[in-house]
Formats: sequence, structure tokens, C-alpha cells
Amino acid sequence: MLKRIHHVAIVVPTLEAAWPLWRDLLGLTVTRTATLRNQGVRAALLKAGQDEIELLEPLEPANSVGRFLARTGGGLHHICFETSDIEAEIAQARARGVALIDQAPRAGLAGMVCFLHPKATHGVLIEYAEPREI
Ligand code: CO
Repeated sequence: MLKRIHHVAIVVPTLEAAWPLWRDLLGLTVTRTATLRNQGVRAALLKAGQDEIELLEPLEPANSVGRFLARTGGGLHHICFETSDIEAEIAQARARGVALIDQAPRAGLAGMVCFLHPKATHGVLIEYAEPREI
């Protein structure tokens, strides 16, 4: 069962370009930064009370986040829901015929994660995350 919105992800040109707004003006605390080669991004999580903002910087202009940045100039990229059982969420989505980007959980900044395909979700990219120390 989904517990809450874990984070909202925003694509930015670089994390350094994002700090003046997200960290300095809005005053959010950076809790984690990492390079996620399997997702083609440098990413940061910032705490906003109980919630989090995830900033995504593409590692290459040709990957999906890089193309998103070129197409849109950056901005809202996906919404992540927290779950205590990501395998069960994937099984339920599959049983309902919802297209998946990831056929199995993989390591992400928020723990083990999986993305639903936006063609199955009215164009909104949805991530599930089961927080774990990775
Ligand atoms: Co995310």
C-alpha cells in the first residue's frame, strides 16, 4: 500500500544552478547527493518538512533526462510514492496491465525504485520507492 508522496522530482541544468533557489531561497536542507549512472543523473534530495524534493541533473544531453531538459528547459519530471512493498506494487500494476519502465526494482536515490510508463498514467511519470539504505 502506498504511504505518502515521497518526493517530487525537478529537472535542473546542474545542481549548482539549482542551489540558489531550492537550498538558499526556499531553505530546504540537502540530505543526500549522488551520481546514479543507471538513471543517467546527478541527483539530490532536499527535505521539505516531511516531504522531499529531488533535483535531477542529466549526465548527458542525449539521455532521457537530458532530452527532457532540452525540450522543456527543466521543471517537474516525476512524482514518487513511498511504499513498504515495492514488489507488491509492481505485481499489482502488472496485473492491471499498466505499462512499466522497470520490470523489477532497482537502486535509486530514495531506495529501491520502479517507474511506471507515462503512456499508462496520463503522461505523468510515476515512481514507486521503498526506502532502504543502499
Ligand atoms: Co525520484
